[in-house]
Amino acid sequence: MSDTSKTATLTIGDSSYELPIYTPTAGPDVIDIRKLYSQAGVFTYDPGFTSTAACDSTITFIDGDKGELLHRGYPIDQLAEKSHYLEVCFLLLYGYLPKASELEQFERTITQHTMIHEQMHNFFRGFRRDAHPMATMVGVVGAMSAFYHDSTDINNPLEREIASHRLIAKMPTIAAMAYKYSIGQPFVYPRNDLDYAANFLHMCFAVPAEQYQVDPILARAMDRIFTLHADHEQNASTSTVRLASSSGANPFACIAAGIACLWGPAHGGANQACLEMLKEIGTPDRIPEYIARAKDKNDPFRLMGFGHRVYKNFDPRATVMKQSADEVLELMGVENNPILATAKELEQAALADPYFAEKKLFPNVDFYSGIILEAMGFPTSMFTPVFALSRTVGWISQWKEQLADPQMKIGRPRQLYQGETMRDYVDIEKR
Ligand code: CMC
Repeated sequence: MSDTSKTATLTIGDSSYELPIYTPTAGPDVIDIRKLYSQAGVFTYDPGFTSTAACDSTITFIDGDKGELLHRGYPIDQLAEKSHYLEVCFLLLYGYLPKASELEQFERTITQHTMIHEQMHNFFRGFRRDAHPMATMVGVVGAMSAFYHDSTDINNPLEREIASHRLIAKMPTIAAMAYKYSIGQPFVYPRNDLDYAANFLHMCFAVPAEQYQVDPILARAMDRIFTLHADHEQNASTSTVRLASSSGANPFACIAAGIACLWGPAHGGANQACLEMLKEIGTPDRIPEYIARAKDKNDPFRLMGFGHRVYKNFDPRATVMKQSADEVLELMGVENNPILATAKELEQAALADPYFAEKKLFPNVDFYSGIILEAMGFPTSMFTPVFALSRTVGWISQWKEQLADPQMKIGRPRQLYQGETMRDYVDIEKR
């Protein structure tokens, strides 16, 4: 951290406290309150961390007002257009764009780690067939710590490296197996002659009874979905991974924690929730009813796929995803799909409504990703697993960065206690 020449003065009663201010390479200044409690005896209060920086990071930067998302400085639209997922994984993990030989080596390493321990198949078979694939993934990824003992020592850089590669490589296999199990089809083993995205499509849609050819346009669209979800700064699931890791937990357990957090409908579960909402709306004539419900303070309903904590003008991932949606729908011959028609009209109706404009609510990445995934043939329950496998590299890059940070401490937030103060126990007959 640099630049402590600026300070902020906090006055409480008759006492004043000087707090250092740090200037980042991009984004707003940050006030260092680490010594506040020891000096002034007060905590700060920030539920939801709306104004709190919890760590230093050099991986991803978001400017929510400009709608800018940079990985190691490179804009997401350029990466989505010119790069591909495994190159972006390298960039996030190691901080620079690889030379051709480095990329080739990295791709080979990932490809050679895609199979999972054969005994792990029994884990899948322990779940009910109707289990949500995210539930299966939380369990199976956590169970990896029981299978890969040579990559759980977080103090050993080589083991950290192996754990990173294993997670990136095996997550598509695990997600595809969770899907196959849920529909009662045999597991399809990974194929090393296919690239990362094509291999995932193959593991999801191939069956032993007949040949399955991966369409290169679909593989490219899949790869783009992975790329657009690869990392997103200190969001809820990434912060969960960092918090779990701050106690020294092993990498597989930390990533399982991240998957659990991602599942919620306010986060990664929004892509499933959004498509289910579009199906529930059904036809464009019912849109005004749902817009009215989203605006009604007494109704918990929200327009899924709309709004973002950080983006307040547009989500740059949504712009690319929308283009991709057009390509895939044309290829699949479903441009006239009623869900798509509803989605397009809903988007227009919400953008034209003063409520959404005033609150700066725009379609986010999840508004379009579900439409593409449905057109590809994925059931809604697989949308969030696709997000989880894409985000694994972000979680693991942030985990690696955190472990190398000399300032790392166990995460331990404080609270504003509003409960009873000390009182004497009352015997049961006197209550
Ligand atoms: N529909 C209707 N009203 C909304 C919506 C929405 N989708 N999102 C926010 N608002 C309103 C909210 O009621 C609040 O109004 P008021 O100021 O009158 O109380 C105001 O906008 C601000 O909302 P907030 O909940 O304080 O904002 P937040 O930053 O805490 O929440 C969010 C961000 C993404 C959780 C929220 O916009 C939301 O629930 N969206 C729907 C779920 C969704 O699409 N999530 C995916 C996010 S992108 C993928 C990812 O990162 O996981």
